[in-house]
Amino acid sequence: MNQSLWNTVDDYFSEVLHLNDPALEHARDRAREAGLPPHEVAPNQGRLLQIFAQMVGARRILEIGTLGGYSTIWLARALPPSGRLVSLERNAAYADVARTNLAAAGLAACTDIIVGDARDILQQWAASDAEPFDMIFLDADKADNPQYLELALRLARDGTIIVGDNIIRGGRIADREATDQPDVLGACRFLKTLGHDLRLTSTAIQTVGIKGWDGFSLARVSR
Ligand code: DHB
Ligand code: MG
Repeated sequence: MNQSLWNTVDDYFSEVLHLNDPALEHARDRAREAGLPPHEVAPNQGRLLQIFAQMVGARRILEIGTLGGYSTIWLARALPPSGRLVSLERNAAYADVARTNLAAAGLAACTDIIVGDARDILQQWAASDAEPFDMIFLDADKADNPQYLELALRLARDGTIIVGDNIIRGGRIADREATDQPDVLGACRFLKTLGHDLRLTSTAIQTVGIKGWDGFSLARVSR
């Protein structure tokens, strides 16, 4: 582990690849001032999410877990002119910060931040045959990931990609003794479904950087 070296390299990537800009820095700073946990994606991961969305030509993006809207900005920037991003957030105060940040980034018109329990909201949409999403970013409470995934699949089409953030849990993901911990249990069940559901082509990647030892899963839905 060498966190300070990882920080230096991530900062270098941000500089050489121009991964920061005033809207993103503003969003991150407002989130800090408002006391939100420092859980937004790293700039290089934000760009990765943007590229994934562009690669699949995403016109409808779903985010579960808005926090201060930092990843929301990256994803919304990938949308074509008629595209829409819906982001679900349980905490109304976080959603307010995110709405302000998206407005400051010029992205208020193409984004909807909805406050509520994502399970209830997704259940309603799934039951009402809502239009499917092209990309789904799962970044809320890890304990609830299995249910989010099950509902996300009901709102997916052939070719939808599903990204799951923070699946490493400090390495506890592979610790068979740690399965009494809700986040580890949620992440494990989530990965198990990614592995056994025949509709999904899935992988998982470990990363190091300003978020420490972290990682994400990527799955493609086929129908
Ligand atoms: C945690 C959650 C996140 O979404 C993240 O990016 C990092 C950490 C957490 O709950 O610990
Ligand atoms: Mg996260």
